[in-house]
This record gives sequence, C-alpha cells and structure tokens, in this order.
Amino acid sequence: MSTILIVDDDDAFRESLAETIADLGHSIVQATSGRAALAHLRGDEPVDCLFLDLRLPDMNGIEVLEQVRAMKGRQNLAVVVLTGFATSDNTIQAMRLGAFDHLTKPVGRDTIANLLHKIGASEQTVSTAAAPTDYVDDRIPRLLGNSEALRDVQKQIGRAATSDSTVLITGETGTGKEVAARVLHNVSKRRDRAFVAINCAAIPEDLLESELFGHVKGAFTGAISDRPGRFAQATGGTLFLDEIGDLPLSMQAKLLRAIQERVVIPVGSDKPLPIDVRIVAATHRDLAQEVVQHTFREDLFYRLNVIPVMLPPLRERPADIIPLASHFLAITAADGGPLKSLSAGAEARLLSHAWPGNVRELRNAMERVSVLTRGAQITDDDLAFLVNATPALLASDISAGLLDLPLPEAIERLERASIEQALTQTMGNRAEAARKLGISRQSLYTKLAAYKLG
Ligand SMILES: Nc1ncnc2c1ncn2[C@@H]1O[C@H](COP(=O)(O)OP(=O)(O)O)[C@@H](O)[C@H]1O
Ligand SMILES: [Mg+2]
Repeated sequence: MSTILIVDDDDAFRESLAETIADLGHSIVQATSGRAALAHLRGDEPVDCLFLDLRLPDMNGIEVLEQVRAMKGRQNLAVVVLTGFATSDNTIQAMRLGAFDHLTKPVGRDTIANLLHKIGASEQTVSTAAAPTDYVDDRIPRLLGNSEALRDVQKQIGRAATSDSTVLITGETGTGKEVAARVLHNVSKRRDRAFVAINCAAIPEDLLESELFGHVKGAFTGAISDRPGRFAQATGGTLFLDEIGDLPLSMQAKLLRAIQERVVIPVGSDKPLPIDVRIVAATHRDLAQEVVQHTFREDLFYRLNVIPVMLPPLRERPADIIPLASHFLAITAADGGPLKSLSAGAEARLLSHAWPGNVRELRNAMERVSVLTRGAQITDDDLAFLVNATPALLASDISAGLLDLPLPEAIERLERASIEQALTQTMGNRAEAARKLGISRQSLYTKLAAYKLG
C-alpha cells in the first residue's frame, strides 16, 4: 500500500480519482491548490506518489513540479502529471523534470492501476536540469501533435533532455526529425551553447573529414588557414548529424573513433583535440537493415542508437493532421496573410491524403492554399492538387528501394505504380489513363493483364 497525494481543483475529477485509487488499496491525501500540496510535501508525512493537475488556481503544475524537485527528500518522488489539455511544451517539460508520466483526462481505471504498479516496481532516479526561461518565443522550434504516437515522442525527448546520451532519430523524410533534434537541444542543459547541424548526405566524401574535424593550414591545396570543424563549433552544445545513414564507410570508422575516444584529429594535424558535444543523429534509412547489408557499421550503429526516437509517418498518426494544418495556416497568416479556415470537405481531403512527404508536404500544401485561395475558407477543390500516389511511387521508395533493385524488377515496379496512379487519377477511365501514360489503349490492356490489374 502506498500513499498518494492528489492535487487538483476540479472536485468531481479529484474525488473520482481518489475513489479509484482507494479502491486499488492505497491511501489518499487530497489538495486543491499548488500551495496546499507543497505545504503538505514540506511536512514529514510519507508520500509515495503525486498526481498533479497542471492548471491549478494558484499556480501552474510545472512550477509545483519544479519546487518538488528542489525539496529535500522529495527529489525522487514519483509524479504523474494530469491535464485536460496536453501541449507539446507541457509534455516535454514535465518529462524533463522527471515526471513519471503525463496523462490527459479522463484517465481510466486500468491506466491508473498500471501506473501505480509500475511506480511501485521501479525506483526512479532523476537528475534535473535548471528550468528553461523562455517558452513563448515563436521562433523556437516546436514538435506539435496530440496523437498518442507523437505524445510518446515528446515524452522521450523530455526524458532524453536530462542526459548527454547519444540520440538516434529515425523516420521518413519530412516527419520532423530535425525539429525533434532542435527541440531536444533547446530543453537540454546545453541550450545556451551552439546547435550545429551537418547533412552527411550533402557533403562530398572527400570534404567530409575536414568539415567534421577541421583542418590545419596547408593540409591540402586550398587550406590557407586553420579551420575548426563542426565538432569544435558545437563545443558545449549539440552536434546534429543529419542523414547519418549516408555517411561513407571510411568516415564511419573515423566518426566511431571520435565518439569512443572523445577526441578529433583535424586533417593535416597529429594533435588530438578533446571534444565536448552531445550527438544527435538522424536518418530516413533503416540502419539495422543497412547493418545487415554491411553498408553501415554495426559498432557505430550501437554507439549512436543509445536513445532511439522514432517519428512515425504522418499517415500513421491522422490525429495530428488537422491540428498541424491549422497551425501552418496560422503561421502563414502571422506572416501577413489573412487567416483562412478549413471547410469540412477540405478537412476530409487532408485526412484521406497519404502524405508521402509527411509534415513537410502538409506545411507546403498549407502555404500554397493560403496564397492561392481567394475566399476566407479553404474548400475541398482548393486542395485538388493533393493526389494520392500509390505506395510504390513514394519519393522515399524511389530513392531508397527502387534504385537498389535489379533493373528489370525496378522497371516493372515503376511501370506498375505508374499505371495504378494513372487509373486512380482518372477514376478508372482506361482510355484517359492510356493517354496520360502516353501509350496506346491496346498496350495498356496488355500491361493490365500482365500485372493482373484488370
Ligand atoms: N510535429 C511538428 N510540429 C510542427 N512542425 C513540424 C512538425 N514536424 C515537422 N514539422 C515541420 O515540417 C517540416 C519538416 O520537418 P523536418 O524536421 O525538417 O523533417 P525531417 O528532418 O524528418 O525531414 C519543417 O518545416 C518542420 O518545421
Ligand atoms: Mg531532415
């Protein structure tokens, strides 16, 4: 049996939660304000777990949590944050301050039972960073979304913020990997130092080493002076290694050595320089698969994959689509345009689109319609440019999958996908599909039969 302190000013919610918890065999203390809760915690009464509402009459739950963390003897108290309205910020903040979990109301009995069981089972140790000062600046990157999947990502980021461990962010192009890395940096204790990003896929192989580790004067033709690399630039801060899956094998070995030995050797030098960076790597590739195919070093993979964070494709978290769309419309409006709203038909269209380019595609689409739509409301027709490609035609497939196939098979797949797309776009009208494809109707029939599409 544990003692649970419930802090919530909503009487009905607090009492029903108290009843549930009492029913599970625990004893309850109730408080209706942040100050009352803190007063109780300053006393000697045992408290094993705190259920904390975020919107309290006298103070914000996050402030209460900060004060609890500063209280002697209560640093490791298990705290479950409850809120009627979860935001990206309050989720990440709560987890960063070592909250055990962050739940949105209403909360079911099973969830509570599960939680109390886990809390009983795990001794938590939390290290907390100092409180961040600024959370309302609009230029601050935000990882928005209320889907369960994105809430999980927000929680992982909040937890990862208290350590210096390497984070590997995976997900399709446009899912928010870079935003996630920036948000992580901004809530970590390194936030006052640099966030330095390097796109490993964009830099020619022979320049990568000098880009990452720097070089000394005379190291190669054109090296007219000493130049610090990205590792040195990120000292005290975060180094974001984007598209790490595209790093050539030779550089993988050098990067591994740098991470293991915590030093880099600038090109042309023999003096190792100590490094102090937190590494966050990202890739749209399946690194575990690349390891199997020997295109990515297994030892480096394990070094990077200390805290894995997976950003699911947008089509797998439809709950995020409309809120993100509205957010992007609001941003565009803030840039000087009028604020446009979405009609029910437009929302339906957004929800049925497959979003192969994920959040980036959604953002671009919202910018485009807000410029092109004349009226105050965006209609279904305004979004007609969103045409679903068949999965085989996704951009990521073309780059990642198709090019790796034997040529005849790649051609076959592309042909099949093009035909399927033409049929979708023409709503099954074969004559029109053939015209779109630039082949004769007869030839289309032959192919339909061959691919068993007819
Ligand atoms: N959850 C999110 N909330 C707000 N903006 C997002 C979110 N995810 C992605 N974006 C926006 O979508 C675009 C692509 O995100 P980015 O992080 O560059 O994706 P990736 O690195 O995975 O290709 C950026 O403009 C970014 O601001
Ligand atoms: Mg990116």
